[in-house]
Amino acid sequence: MEKLCKKLFDLARPYLSVRSNQEHTEASFSFAKELQKQLGGSQEIIFPAIILHDVGWSAVPEELHLQAFGPKNVDLKINRIHEVKGAKIAEKLLQEVPLGNQEREEICRIIKNHDSGKNPLTLEEKIVKDADKLFRFSPRGFSIDAERFGINPQEYWHILNDFKELWFFNELGKTFAVRGLEKVQDQMLK
Ligand SMILES: [Fe+2]
Ligand SMILES: [Fe+2]
Repeated sequence: MEKLCKKLFDLARPYLSVRSNQEHTEASFSFAKELQKQLGGSQEIIFPAIILHDVGWSAVPEELHLQAFGPKNVDLKINRIHEVKGAKIAEKLLQEVPLGNQEREEICRIIKNHDSGKNPLTLEEKIVKDADKLFRFSPRGFSIDAERFGINPQEYWHILNDFKELWFFNELGKTFAVRGLEKVQDQMLK
């Protein structure tokens, strides 16, 4: 599994050079590993899906990115492009690693819905969605976002504190988010 993940990171790297997606993906991968360790679920689905989930941003002009995600006025059409294109790119990249067709299809389905999907169908999908969001609750993700959205850190902390009630599909995801917000408060807001 380690070899497969390394290969996928190598394949994904050129598609993650926009914004801070490389860093975001590596951090989200760590969260996914921790969630999977404690909650179970198939590593063969979860790990490739989280590594490839944001490759589709490479197909969206960079000047549009800030309209497509964040706490305010999200343009859902632009956001949707990164999911749909991402699933296409992932389909291609997944041919390079030894996985079954069923796994490949499920990974692409998760990528296609990772942001917009409101009703994740499987534990694997829930873990990928939570791991993706958790980056925003880490001190590093928090400072990147507060700056790029131009929001005062105190205010942004409260926005995230409210969002944590809606965003997580596993209790453990929410627990990690609470811990993240505590760290942010200790390290950055005191
Ligand atoms: Fe995404
Ligand atoms: Fe993401």
